[in-house]
Amino acid sequence: MTQTDSRVTHLPTGSYYTPSGEYDDLYRRSMEDPEGFWAEQAESLDWFKPWEKVLDWQAPYARWFVGGKLNLSYQCLDRHVQTEVKNKVAFYWEGELGETQVLTYNEMYRLTNNYAAALKRLGVKRGDKVALYLPMIPALPVFMLACARLGAIFTVVFSAFSGQALADRVEDVGAKVIITSSGMHRRGKILPLKENAVEAAVKCPCVEKIVVVKHTGHHTEMDPDRDVWLDDILAGVDEYVAPEAMDANDPLFVLYTSGSTGKPKGILHGTAGYALWIAKTLQWAFNPDQKSVFWCTADIGWITGHSYVVFAPLELGLTSVMYEGAPDFPAIDRWWQLIAKYGVTIFYTSPTAIRMFMRHGEEWPAKYDLSSLKSLGSVGEPINPEAWLWYYRNIGHERISISDTWWQTETGGFMISPTPGIQPHPLKPGSATKPMPGVDVAVLDPDGKELPNGQTGFIVIRKPWPGMLLDIYQNQELYQQTYWSRFPGYYLPGDFCMKDQDNFLWLLGRADEVIKVAGHRISTAELESSIVGHSAVAEAAACSRPDEVKGEAIILFVTLRKGTDPSPEIKAELTRHLRATIGALATPEEIFFVNLLPKTRSGKIMRRLLKAVATGATVGDTSTLDDGASIDEARAAFEELK
Ligand code: WTA
Repeated sequence: MTQTDSRVTHLPTGSYYTPSGEYDDLYRRSMEDPEGFWAEQAESLDWFKPWEKVLDWQAPYARWFVGGKLNLSYQCLDRHVQTEVKNKVAFYWEGELGETQVLTYNEMYRLTNNYAAALKRLGVKRGDKVALYLPMIPALPVFMLACARLGAIFTVVFSAFSGQALADRVEDVGAKVIITSSGMHRRGKILPLKENAVEAAVKCPCVEKIVVVKHTGHHTEMDPDRDVWLDDILAGVDEYVAPEAMDANDPLFVLYTSGSTGKPKGILHGTAGYALWIAKTLQWAFNPDQKSVFWCTADIGWITGHSYVVFAPLELGLTSVMYEGAPDFPAIDRWWQLIAKYGVTIFYTSPTAIRMFMRHGEEWPAKYDLSSLKSLGSVGEPINPEAWLWYYRNIGHERISISDTWWQTETGGFMISPTPGIQPHPLKPGSATKPMPGVDVAVLDPDGKELPNGQTGFIVIRKPWPGMLLDIYQNQELYQQTYWSRFPGYYLPGDFCMKDQDNFLWLLGRADEVIKVAGHRISTAELESSIVGHSAVAEAAACSRPDEVKGEAIILFVTLRKGTDPSPEIKAELTRHLRATIGALATPEEIFFVNLLPKTRSGKIMRRLLKAVATGATVGDTSTLDDGASIDEARAAFEELK
């Protein structure tokens, strides 16, 4: 089905909605008087000290609620334990092996205080950096909250990143402590997280301690000077730790993500604006109520998990499901089983997961009672209309709304999404629909002129919003250059977008060198810099081609140094190298060996041409190419494989 065919306006029926107003009115107000609008919204936070100024906008830096003081762990826990939310379930946790844990708000509160006390005893204080390299176990959100409580800046590193990738992030952020677990379960295997943490600690002199959460039973070597078990530092601790009064714009966390450079950049988020943005956007996009059981399947190692597994649901006092394992282990029905078991009402996942389920057939979800569901969501990459409709029919039973949420690590929370929490929303399969209140979107041509509806161009955001990143950690220049230089004064997300005749927005993928593999963000430069680090490789170019399940798949074109010939062994070796230096998400779909890479006369690799070859598209204009033979060669390598 093409995108044009799919533009059927659809308004889900059902009595679920309790709209809180009219979208158009709210949106208009947020545009006409942003400061008044956000001041009103910010009443929903608990302030230790009220702000003096709603917005200080010195482009490209926005500072919200200047002068205000608060603490995000207080927002998520302390204020709830003073109410009937105290004994409500915060998390239903389930491990891959089927073990379970039920954590109430009160238990989360107690654990957070104790973990904060233990960290304090290790010498962690306000402003220190802590790296969290943990699987999806309760200790991860508890440590994030404990760091927020102490005012320590945390950086969560996705557990599928390698020891080297962890080291890169630990070093950049300057972490004093790495918190990890003995290992993690993935599809029946145990992955050695602690060993990776040791690799990072050895490479980074900033690391003083490794705290280890006992999670897998296998033997773990402990260095008595550096390594401590969480259980040991918690022994005998049962105390209240007063939450630090953080400045509204104090940094909360750094989360590394890929951009156009070989090194991931540290996206720095603040406290008040971020806290407000994620809570409001969750309400607007999913319309939860106090009986909701929310399940965001994202790993906490990505922004989706930070904002919508940990902080926003806790701020709103919701009950969430948290699951450690893979969706297809032990069988492809694991998620549907969990929805039925916990009575999940809001289910939020990725197009890659939906396409994987589609491939296995609708008989799997059909075995389970999914009638508790009231709202569905999608995130991470464009959702194709076929996948949208499959999700709508087989999971939502044509009864409930889908919120396709478009946003980024940098934006903190949702930017474009249906907003059933404001008003019932007409939907079009494949479109993220309309901007959130406060989000001023335009679609521009390469010269910065606004495009008429129906044409594809660069999406920009013309006003600051509360969830906006504070900066790139320790790299103001890169911050300005990446997001603010192409169209001065406007934030550039780096995606293509088209606004249709009804003003619905269609997000059409990245306009830069970022690849989305199964929704995970990785850049061509990162892949290239990893692979040229292998002694057999002279030069390399990375690109992607569309993949039916993963959205995009990684393709590499490699020239080998003299003395190494192309072979299946060297291919396997290079794949191993990518996984060791970055992680499993860097696994290439194909590696092609060539003698020449297509380059411009000034020596720039023409990835556009390689991508065309890898996707079988016409190569187009090659007039700037230095040596036409290179493209014939790449094509021959590709054809040979077919
Ligand atoms: C893509 C993930 C289309 C987009 C929250 C963006 C999407 C990048 C959508 C950010 C969506 C995310 N429709 N594309 N609903 N959601 N993207 O930082 O290209 O991991 O720029 O944040 O994901 O990826 P990130």
